[in-house]
Amino acid sequence: MARSVPIPDGNKVFVLTGAGVSAESGIRTFRDANGLWEEHRVEDVASPEGFAKDPELVWRFYGQRRAQALTVKPNPGHHALAALEARLGDDFLLCTQNVDALHEAAGSTRVIHMHGELMKTRCSDPACGTAPFHDERHDFGELPRCSCGALQRPHIVWFGEIPFEMHRIKRVVQACDVFVCVGSSGVVYPAAGLVREMTYRRSVGETVRTVYVGVESPDNADAFDEVVIGKAGETLPGLFAR
Ligand code: OAD
Repeated sequence: MARSVPIPDGNKVFVLTGAGVSAESGIRTFRDANGLWEEHRVEDVASPEGFAKDPELVWRFYGQRRAQALTVKPNPGHHALAALEARLGDDFLLCTQNVDALHEAAGSTRVIHMHGELMKTRCSDPACGTAPFHDERHDFGELPRCSCGALQRPHIVWFGEIPFEMHRIKRVVQACDVFVCVGSSGVVYPAAGLVREMTYRRSVGETVRTVYVGVESPDNADAFDEVVIGKAGETLPGLFAR
């Protein structure tokens, strides 16, 4: 029998997604044997130090990822989450660790990209006031520069950097009734620790629910009331009943 996770109208729902929700769209996850980092060392292509040392390599790496992102489409898992938002409205927030735009392509609008956005660029000088902007360029002759003269960089949270909007994310988690996590291995913090807020709230007498959906148990599985094993694109459609 198909699994069902009842979410009545009026419940406040926080959803955290990871690479697993985009896997069926053809984007490889980080912890795949041939994962996204491919032949690169993470610190070379995804750290401020790596960018300072070899910005060309970093832009080539993200340029390839941008080119691939232009070819992928949302899958039924993304669409199911957009449908849940359409039903719950402002009682719903989706926080994704993914830098692709597949949730938005499926129709989600209440989305936080805590690890940044692949199709955005910003100035590498933190003192420069220019805002990040949409940017699909992926084949660079010369490296892109800001009007202030500094190199531009991908609008991505790299290792050693603090994820975006953590205050807002924590406020929403502290007020939600249901915490849903989809396709995240639960090893990268602070995202992996967000569900522990629900454990704390339960310990002080609040009624909260936590659900994980993915192809295998995550590292932080002990923090979830329910672990639903299955592919996001096959499991999420029809999972959330009223
Ligand atoms: P991971 O690659 O660590 O984990 C992906 C999870 O998705 C695994 O637990 C898989 O079992 C599961 N999975 C695979 N295919 C799936 C499917 N079709 N449906 C559902 N689940 C599936 O990815 P994340 O947990 O997202 O950070 O990684 C977290 C962060 O680590 C990333 O945002 C990235 C990386 O370092 C930064 O780049 C800052």
